[in-house]
Amino acid sequence: MIIRKVEMTDLIEVLEIYNQGIVDRVATLETRKKDQDYIHSWFNNHQGRYVGLVAENEEKSIVGWAAISPYNQRDAYKGVGEISVYIHRDYRGKGAGQKLLKQLEIEALNHDFYKLVLFTFPFNLLGQGLYNKLQYRQVGVFKNQGVLDGKFVDVMAMEKILDTTC
Ligand SMILES: CC(C)(COP(=O)(O)OP(=O)(O)OC[C@H]1O[C@@H](n2cnc3c(N)ncnc32)[C@H](O)[C@@H]1OP(=O)(O)O)[C@@H](O)C(=O)NCCC(=O)NCCS
Repeated sequence: MIIRKVEMTDLIEVLEIYNQGIVDRVATLETRKKDQDYIHSWFNNHQGRYVGLVAENEEKSIVGWAAISPYNQRDAYKGVGEISVYIHRDYRGKGAGQKLLKQLEIEALNHDFYKLVLFTFPFNLLGQGLYNKLQYRQVGVFKNQGVLDGKFVDVMAMEKILDTTC
């Protein structure tokens, strides 16, 4: 498996993987599947510093993606990136998430981020496994932070201060 920057030709697979995450209701408060226009706009916004990465397997299929997005537009937060990671259903729990997030940290350091943050559901056990393994810290849980299919859900904030000395 290789990790590389996302290319325009990956977008159909990237979109499919994101929509799996939305449909599965384990990853995001988004409830409606995204379309081609959305993913092209996402692609344009994830060039350069706010990078988008994909994991490509030996058969040249995209099995997952990860990205850094702005945490907040204020200048004071320009060193903080908010991350997302989505793995294809057939490849979850097989190490792709870990590979993507490790490379994302390298990209983050190369682009003057000192901290990565993320928001996740406390019941997303595979997500918790991944973030704990990579030493993300639990900042806290927002109670009843969103409504998903008519029910309140809690959202956990996590952070990782990057080692900027290396
Ligand atoms: C959550 C997600 C990104 C994790 O990525 P992944 O590729 O499945 O995770 P990995 O295989 O890299 O696992 C990383 C670590 O999690 C832990 N882990 C693995 N399986 C686990 C399980 N069933 N339960 C809990 N922890 C588990 C392990 O410590 C593992 O590391 P190790 O195998 O080296 O010990 C992925 O499953 C996914 O895309 N899920 C749907 C979308 C989603 O939830 N996105 C995140 C939104 S916040």
